[in-house]
Amino acid sequence: MNLIRVKDYNEMIERAGEYMKLQVREKKDSVLGLATGRTMVGVYERLIEHYKNKDISFRDVITFNLDEYYPITRENPSSYYQYMMEHLFRHTDINTENIHIPDGSTTDPLEECKSYDKKIEAVGGIDLQLLGIGRNGHIGFNEPKPVLELNTHLTDLDETTIEDNASAFSSREAMPQQAITLGIKKIMEAKKIILLANGREKSEALRKMTRKEVDPRWPASILQLHPDITTIADEEACERLE
Ligand code: GLP
Repeated sequence: MNLIRVKDYNEMIERAGEYMKLQVREKKDSVLGLATGRTMVGVYERLIEHYKNKDISFRDVITFNLDEYYPITRENPSSYYQYMMEHLFRHTDINTENIHIPDGSTTDPLEECKSYDKKIEAVGGIDLQLLGIGRNGHIGFNEPKPVLELNTHLTDLDETTIEDNASAFSSREAMPQQAITLGIKKIMEAKKIILLANGREKSEALRKMTRKEVDPRWPASILQLHPDITTIADEEACERLE
């Protein structure tokens, strides 16, 4: 695993934006796996800047988001659909047909999960997967469990995840308790992965992720087996690393 230690959030998103810019410049029809959460807000700001400076175009880019709450409508301002529109897509020239986000309003989540995996397979898999990390070591919404789930699936959200993400909803009660998430297999099959971690609250997850032991109770630890992963982490997140 290639670990790049940076000073702070700004340096982290700068590096991540550059990395993603190069990917899209090298392969204009890149398949990008995208993430949400506070960490990614600045990364998308950088990408929008690169787009406005005409360094990149999203015209032929295909995207697959990692996850979406369940149940939730696309119109819900706290949905990841709205997050992506607001923070990235509506500021770019991306073709809306190329945007994929799990449908949180489906009445058949099992079918939605199966067809999501098939859509990724149909375009030849993900070229670059962008990942954040939960305080509990989750990636996407692959929550700590005795066994990691390989395929895209509906999952119960962990208590820590509900605690950490409830502020995006009008109340804790308004937050869905489940989500549809890409499974470990499609993440691990991505040709390249870039994972971002900043802040002290991510330091334990980062430590568990890098200590050469795969533990499904810290899902991100599986990433050590990926052949091309770059982690960019700030000083605070690196605090507990040996
Ligand atoms: C969220 C998302 C993840 C994200 C992680 C960290 O719940 N499902 O994709 O990477 O948790 O979020 P944040 O960046 O807000 O700390």
